[in-house]
Amino acid sequence: MQRPEPKTLGKVVVLYGGHSAEREVSLKSGSMVLKALQSCGVDAHGFDPARQSLAELAGGGFDRAVISLHGRFGEDGTIQGALELLRIPYTGSGVKASALSMDKILTKVVWRNAGLNTPDYVQLQPGFDAQAVAARLGLPLIVKPAQEGSTLGLTKVSEEAELQAAFDKACKYDCQVLAEKFIQGAELTVPVLGEGDTAHALPVIRIQAPQGNYDYHNKYIGNDTQYFCPSGLPEALEHEVQQLAVQSYRQLGCAGWGRADVMLDEAQRPWLLEMNTSPGMTDHSLVPMSARAAGISYEDLVLILAGSAALRAGG
Ligand SMILES: Nc1ncnc2c1ncn2[C@@H]1O[C@H](COP(=O)(O)OP(=O)(O)O)[C@@H](O)[C@H]1O
Ligand SMILES: [Mg+2]
Repeated sequence: MQRPEPKTLGKVVVLYGGHSAEREVSLKSGSMVLKALQSCGVDAHGFDPARQSLAELAGGGFDRAVISLHGRFGEDGTIQGALELLRIPYTGSGVKASALSMDKILTKVVWRNAGLNTPDYVQLQPGFDAQAVAARLGLPLIVKPAQEGSTLGLTKVSEEAELQAAFDKACKYDCQVLAEKFIQGAELTVPVLGEGDTAHALPVIRIQAPQGNYDYHNKYIGNDTQYFCPSGLPEALEHEVQQLAVQSYRQLGCAGWGRADVMLDEAQRPWLLEMNTSPGMTDHSLVPMSARAAGISYEDLVLILAGSAALRAGG
């Protein structure tokens, strides 16, 4: 993808912070993005929707918005809808693809409908039959809220008797809760750039967390998680996982950029977990890591993303 000339980007607003549970990560991502744009000579400004009003955004004379928000009100189609109405082109997916990807249950419905490989699951409703769920999915299994990120509210359930508590915990984040078949094996993540036919994957990252437990602590706090990019997967498997990520992105109608989380089972078969439509952009984040392996610097990545900002009504 072409790195645009910084001056052609006009007046840029970087949206960061926001109201979601991932506010802190977003503040880190957004300030780095802002700094990178400014260091390249872009007329870039920060904007925190949790602290500033949309009227300020509307009256700011911005030519484009770079979204560095995560989770609710940032990644779920709401801010995208506001930017559509304000006619400010923005980075990443449109309203529909953002909302779909934010919901892990709807995402799986779309993927399964398209024949893409995603683990079997059951939506848990209050009063669910724990025995039937455990019998269908096997143990251990994963319980997680349909709409949250950063592993918040997620539990690995090893015994049927723990299912109710796991459901209650997930419900604190979102009362749409899914139980999902546990995939035992390597954890991968795959950035995708572009849109439709031009969508393409960056190098796969393989993640090795302590005891295979890639939770909030191991994602953002601890230093024991190891990331491999190049992934070390055999070339054919790397390619297969990249193709699956691109298809999963296209089926959801994603645009601009995204990052598919994938697990490999013991037979090396890839399973799609979720699509992130506004991935982290700190210097330790995964998309910048993969871009670097593809020869794209952090600054160039930020310029490419800013250059891809668009209005995506209907998308
Ligand atoms: N079905 C599953 N089998 C095994 N591990 C899982 C499964 N679902 C989630 N996980 C683990 O939990 C982490 C977070 O789950 P994910 O679905 O990516 O949601 P989010 O990142 O939005 O919290 C994954 O990176 C993986 O380590
Ligand atoms: Mg994830």
